[in-house]
Amino acid sequence: MDVSTPFVALLFIGLLSLFLLVARKPSPSCGDGRRLPPSPPGLPLLGHLPLLGSLPHRKLRSLAEAHGPVMLLRLGRVPTVVASSAAAAQEAMKTRDLAFASRPRVRMAERLLYGSDMAFAPYGEHWRQARRVCVLHLLSQRRVLSFRRAREREAAALLDRVRRAAVRDAVNLSDLLISYTNGVFLRAAFGDDVGGYELDGGEKLRKVFADFEELLGTVTVGEFVPWLAWLDTLTGLDAKVTHTFEEMDALIERVIADHRQRRRGGRRKEDDHRDFVDVLLDVNEMEEDADGVRFDTAAIKAIVLDVFAAATDTAYTTLVWAMAELINHPHEMRRVQEEIRAAVGGGDHVTEDHLSELRYLKSVIKETLRLHTPLPLLLPRETVEDTELLGYHVPARTRVVINAWAIARDPATWERAEEFVPERFADDDPTDDQYALGQDFRFVPFGAGRRGCPGVEFGVPTIELALASLLYHFDWELPAGGASTLDMDELNGLSVRLKATLHLVSKPWSPQ
Ligand code: HEM
Repeated sequence: MDVSTPFVALLFIGLLSLFLLVARKPSPSCGDGRRLPPSPPGLPLLGHLPLLGSLPHRKLRSLAEAHGPVMLLRLGRVPTVVASSAAAAQEAMKTRDLAFASRPRVRMAERLLYGSDMAFAPYGEHWRQARRVCVLHLLSQRRVLSFRRAREREAAALLDRVRRAAVRDAVNLSDLLISYTNGVFLRAAFGDDVGGYELDGGEKLRKVFADFEELLGTVTVGEFVPWLAWLDTLTGLDAKVTHTFEEMDALIERVIADHRQRRRGGRRKEDDHRDFVDVLLDVNEMEEDADGVRFDTAAIKAIVLDVFAAATDTAYTTLVWAMAELINHPHEMRRVQEEIRAAVGGGDHVTEDHLSELRYLKSVIKETLRLHTPLPLLLPRETVEDTELLGYHVPARTRVVINAWAIARDPATWERAEEFVPERFADDDPTDDQYALGQDFRFVPFGAGRRGCPGVEFGVPTIELALASLLYHFDWELPAGGASTLDMDELNGLSVRLKATLHLVSKPWSPQ
């Protein structure tokens, strides 16, 4: 949620034209004895929006420290409940999961994703069908395994790019990791011939995806304060959305047309080579599908783009944060490198067969997700019906935000909560699904329950393979003559990223 730029203007106008700052009294009850959550003072019309700043997860944590683990805010005209403790998260995503299983209308997602996607869909038949197809067909264990080749090819390409870039200077690892995650998920979504869609040597394609993801993480003023919707036009946001949507649509139309033509020509791919577009076209044709699922072309486009955006940004962000933490923690860096180098035993490269042995690497990734939850506020939820949270009444159609980042740093439930200590996860059973959703609500980077992330099984090996490969083949350090530690400031977007570009010096390592 990037609420920074337009809201600076918004705040200004609000302050000038909207009288004085007024402290609104919290509404302790809804008139029938049911207690609403406590609410900090806010502004007329704008409510608590101006309090959120450029990093809302941080501001919301400060507010929760003063007002409690369940708060009621008013973001413009939108009533929003914020949950900031493991107990509140557990009640919302487990005990009362169904009541909290919808998503609010997000105007940006509607405009970019044809109003027909899955991640932002309200709870209902379309979402149920899309989720079922996603879990059974797109992201099934078998399908994820079939993309192993894509992950290994892209990991090899990543290492090549590091070698080539290192000849010149420090490596811009941020850039190379974007190429890696884009590469893996583009192959999965569109197929191996994705190179054929690259214009201008891939630069234009990359820019379209970057804009698309940035916009998906941008909140429009009009969504919360409809009478100020004109600001979205004035700031150029509306025009950028239209332009990006048209470019993306033209690209994905071409991809789908090519897939259809190949199928008409009888050149169907073997099951293990099918990408997301193939699978969705197959689902439409499967007459034996008991539920008779059919998606129109807009829904196919929306679901493919949805999954692509959900996957790339989060995986990229996690990789960058993991490298940044390891650079600042040389002892942990050495320990994880020793583990990888011992497991690979002098082999040419890391493969996915090695990953199950890399327990400390898994702890490093979990600790990274704890401290730098890529979607710190998960995706917004909306209540389907009147319900409760920690004893407070929450009316139907209330927006709900779960501050997973604050929960994962809560000193009441974590020792040395602000420190990078991968050892805290060392005792986890590696044969367990390490990220088992809905088991430990102190740590919910993937959400949980009905709306929990269906992409964990795909995301985790993608992250593990790249990180293990980079750490196996190279030793890493900060460029000489600069700062001795990396600045860990955050930048808000679709996910919350490292603000600085990760420029690192790589020194090739090889087994003697
Ligand atoms: C580090 C990697 C990832 C993280 C941290 C992450 C996190 C999340 C979170 C927090 C949610 C919202 C959960 C909720 O509301 O309870 C979500 C939803 C989703 N994720 Fe992921 N995700 C990751 C990777 C992936 C991958 C690789 C894919 C697909 C290949 C994916 C596909 C989705 C989809 C489709 C949804 C929407 C689910 C729904 O609304 O029913 N994610 N993810």
